[in-house]
Amino acid sequence: MSAPELYLLERAGREGSETLSVYHGSGGYKALEKVLKTPLTQAEVISEVREAGLRGRGGAGFPTGLKWSFMPDHEKDSRKRYMVVNADESEPGTCKDRVLMREDPHGLIEGCLIAAFAMRIDAVYIYVRGEYRKPYNRLQAAIDEARAAGLVGDAIMGSEFSCEIHMHKGAGAYICGEETGLMESLEGKRGHPRPKPPFPAGVGLWGQPTTVNNVESIFNVPFIIDRGATWFARLGSEESRGNFLCGISGHVERPGVYEVPLGTPAREILEDYAGGIWKGRSLKAWFPGGSSTGLLPPDLIDTPMEHDSIKAIGSMFGTGAMIILDETACTVRASEVLARFYDHESCGQCSQCREGTEWLHQIFRRIEEGGGSMEDIANLERLAMGMAPGKTICALADAAAIPTLAVIKHFKNELVAHVEQGCCPLKANTARAQEVRV
Ligand SMILES: Cc1cc2nc3c(=O)[nH]c(=O)nc-3n(C[C@H](O)[C@H](O)[C@H](O)COP(=O)(O)O)c2cc1C
Ligand code: SF4
Repeated sequence: MSAPELYLLERAGREGSETLSVYHGSGGYKALEKVLKTPLTQAEVISEVREAGLRGRGGAGFPTGLKWSFMPDHEKDSRKRYMVVNADESEPGTCKDRVLMREDPHGLIEGCLIAAFAMRIDAVYIYVRGEYRKPYNRLQAAIDEARAAGLVGDAIMGSEFSCEIHMHKGAGAYICGEETGLMESLEGKRGHPRPKPPFPAGVGLWGQPTTVNNVESIFNVPFIIDRGATWFARLGSEESRGNFLCGISGHVERPGVYEVPLGTPAREILEDYAGGIWKGRSLKAWFPGGSSTGLLPPDLIDTPMEHDSIKAIGSMFGTGAMIILDETACTVRASEVLARFYDHESCGQCSQCREGTEWLHQIFRRIEEGGGSMEDIANLERLAMGMAPGKTICALADAAAIPTLAVIKHFKNELVAHVEQGCCPLKANTARAQEVRV
């Protein structure tokens, strides 16, 4: 098999990769120049991104160009409009956007400017996870550098296009990664998601038309404009094009963030990129795309990592962040830890989510600690069915319910073993599974 064509991490790790000179030296801002000097029309830019088939990398896999086209026609709607870049990156297991912001911040800035041009936006907000101090500082320094070079602010590259980029730090709430919770937070309020409709393209930030995109989605844009939709469409699979950043973590030899063509079998990522299961152990369970996508059994590990194939096995591609559990791990303990996370992060607006996440947590804990019953297992399923899909204001309830249903579907025998034995049958193993990597 020939080596895949890589582009997302082309500059990452190079000396000075975060600087304008290195970015310029490797063809940076060429795509923006093409847009502004050719010049391309707004419609042409959107059409190129649509034709490329880029799907959002923030979790839902929604087509990026199509989302941009939902912004109202500027001739009929002259309201101020905004773009928000979602750099909150709080889905457990996900750690890809920070690599892009830290290693190649100008790539994100160029993507923002092209997207803003396409949607006639002159103000972009980048909402960065608060703990990401280095990526934040590098991105801020890069914006300052770009502004000094006439690439951000008024009359960019001497054209009629002006655009300001503002940075904002999150304060450690998972729910502020949900796009409407994020906008509330940006407005200085609690990060409580808004009921939809109206959707952000109609009523978004400060009530104005807004588009929210993930960092990696926007990072792909300059490559599409520079190299063309046809080039992009050749990469990845038919329905999920391009490469993606796979952050693989857990019980693997080489955890990390790897650039992988969409459609690569999960086994290949596990074995060839991440060096296989650590300590020569075997695979027990895996999450395909962050904790919300639920645990899958080992016999599904040959599934191609792309949206439709993962959906066909009853899960979701999500953020493409694989989490691997080896034979020593306890899936009930893993579920308890996750349920505690969702319980803690629920904003409390919807009763199914507020109460449901707490009950899921309590029941998983009771089963893990040996005090569970068969009725508890039935209640887990009943509760999760009442929480999802689409029954609440936002998808956090789904994110808690889906992993619950997945563990019942694929690992029910382990739940039953806990109940029957009145303890965690893997307790000794759990300590081994939690060995600290040195
Ligand atoms: C609870 C919750 C948390 C989310 N967290 C993130 C996040 O940290 N980063 C992100 O890009 N999208 C996150 N999303 C998805 C966003 O709401 C939104 O769909 C995404 O930013 C759109 O970008 P894309 O179309 O480029 O994928 C989250 C969604 C939910 C329901
Ligand atoms: S589903 Fe949960 S997190 Fe989302 S709005 Fe409702 S209570 Fe809040």
